Amino acid sequence: MFRRSLILLIGFWIGSKFFSEAINVTNSRYRQNYHIIAPTGWLNDPNGLSYFNGNYHVFFQYDPTSSNGGGPKQWGHVTSTDLVNWKYTQPTIALAPDQSYDVGGVWTGSAVNNNGELTAIYTGLHNNTGEQLVNIATSTDGVTFTKYSGNPVVPTQPIDGTNQFRDPKVWKYNGVWYMVVGNQSKKNHGRTVLYQSDDLRQWTYLGPLADEPDNRVGSMWECPNFFYINGKHVLFMGTDVERDGDHFANQGLNVYFIGDFNYETKVFSHAVDFYELDNGHDFYAAQMFQDPKNRTILFAWMNSFGTNFEEMQDGWAHTLTVPRQLRLSSDGSRVQMIPVDELTLLRGTEYINSPIEIEGHDLRLYYDKQTGKLVLERTKDVRQVDMGSIMQLNLRIFLDQSSIEVFANDGNVTMSSRYYKDPIPTITLFAEYGVANVEFQAFRLNNIW
Ligand SMILES: *[C@@H]1O[C@H](CO)[C@@H](O)[C@H](O)[C@H]1NC(C)=O
Ligand SMILES: *[C@@H]1O[C@H](CO)[C@@H](O)[C@H](O)[C@H]1NC(C)=O
Ligand SMILES: *[C@@H]1O[C@H](CO)[C@@H](O)[C@H](O)[C@H]1NC(C)=O
Ligand SMILES: *[C@@H]1O[C@H](CO)[C@@H](O)[C@H](O)[C@H]1NC(C)=O
Ligand SMILES: *[C@@H]1O[C@H](CO)[C@@H](O)[C@H](O)[C@H]1NC(C)=O
Repeated sequence: MFRRSLILLIGFWIGSKFFSEAINVTNSRYRQNYHIIAPTGWLNDPNGLSYFNGNYHVFFQYDPTSSNGGGPKQWGHVTSTDLVNWKYTQPTIALAPDQSYDVGGVWTGSAVNNNGELTAIYTGLHNNTGEQLVNIATSTDGVTFTKYSGNPVVPTQPIDGTNQFRDPKVWKYNGVWYMVVGNQSKKNHGRTVLYQSDDLRQWTYLGPLADEPDNRVGSMWECPNFFYINGKHVLFMGTDVERDGDHFANQGLNVYFIGDFNYETKVFSHAVDFYELDNGHDFYAAQMFQDPKNRTILFAWMNSFGTNFEEMQDGWAHTLTVPRQLRLSSDGSRVQMIPVDELTLLRGTEYINSPIEIEGHDLRLYYDKQTGKLVLERTKDVRQVDMGSIMQLNLRIFLDQSSIEVFANDGNVTMSSRYYKDPIPTITLFAEYGVANVEFQAFRLNNIW
């Protein structure tokens, strides 16, 4: 993803050679206990989600030299055997900007297992031309990558688009590789373009996969993901949509279309309506992959472009979400997200029915029975979502040092937000203007770092 101005980035990368030392974390008050964070410095999009050689791999956009993302982006790398206990690989940087075609930044991309070769397909920001082009790098051990001598593998942008062309996401179907890339039409509308390849090295442009005739779904689509799930195809991407009441309240959010894709005609027929993946304050640049158990698993960057991320003054910035498993609602109309089963492995001490109280109103989560809305208030900044007609509300809530993720009613609604309170608040249950019947269970989750 890339949302700051190019000029700002160029300014920083020329200077960055002289300031390439990693910065230090100076205060650990907001460091997450069980979410993926950078060792120091800046993290943004999850990249290259994959399972390879017995390990889950998560790469992430990384700038160890600053907490404001001012240096050129690299791919940081963590692995896990169980999806919840992560460790930094040594070296932690998998792909550094060191070639003319990517020295401006090794930007977002994906990774696939190509017959025993973990292949990263990523956006390179070209040093001299400023172009965003697709490159690949391969690894047989899953740690050390070699950039392909024939890079860039997509050396020109689609002639019917603009120079906004990034975030390749690759998958295989019937022995053929396919790739979606975020792009902008010449009329500056967001769109996703489709390519195909037999070997990941030579790509054929097939045209737009989805293209909106106006700015209804934003002017640039970043980080597109396209996949088959429960009999349907889903396309989600990062974009900016004009706020509409409770909807699209964040600057930068992930939305999705559900439809059917025909591999013969390459036509994706989708419903006109699109929805947010998450309704919290901070959720962007999501990426999914299919794991060996055939689950569709997603991580996102817990970010929106209006939030003040207080940890930046402490020498680091940003966190990914917990891993979520995706599925469609039984009527096929919505994407649901639930926490992956493995998260229960982190459970430590159990509290049962402890009386809990949230002091102050810095962070309040409640269901408003009058309006039927689930509400998450962060220092009076409200996100809320209509839960429809429900008799019962099931909530699974993940609190870490500086984030909250709420999964409501089997994943029909999720809300992900950062929050800052040092020390972190005690939890309180409350009912106002009436009585609520509550069953409550809480666990302390282990610190994985
Ligand atoms: C980080 O801390 C180490 C050890 O205290 C120190 O040597 C190094 O200079 C520090 N780096 C920066 C950028 O301040
Ligand atoms: C990047 O561009 C600058 C200015 O044109 C040049 O001095 C530098 O050598 C280039 N770096 C690489 C790695 O190509
Ligand atoms: C879209 O692709 C076209 C053709 O590659 C390119 O000229 C254009 O810059 C791209 N636009 C974006 C927003 O990536
Ligand atoms: C996953 O799906 C593939 C293709 O549909 C199938 O061959 C395989 O048996 C499935 N694996 C599991 C663990 O269900
Ligand atoms: C989830 O949403 C679907 C579609 O809106 C609805 O039919 C279903 O009842 C909801 N499930 C729960 C548990 O709220």
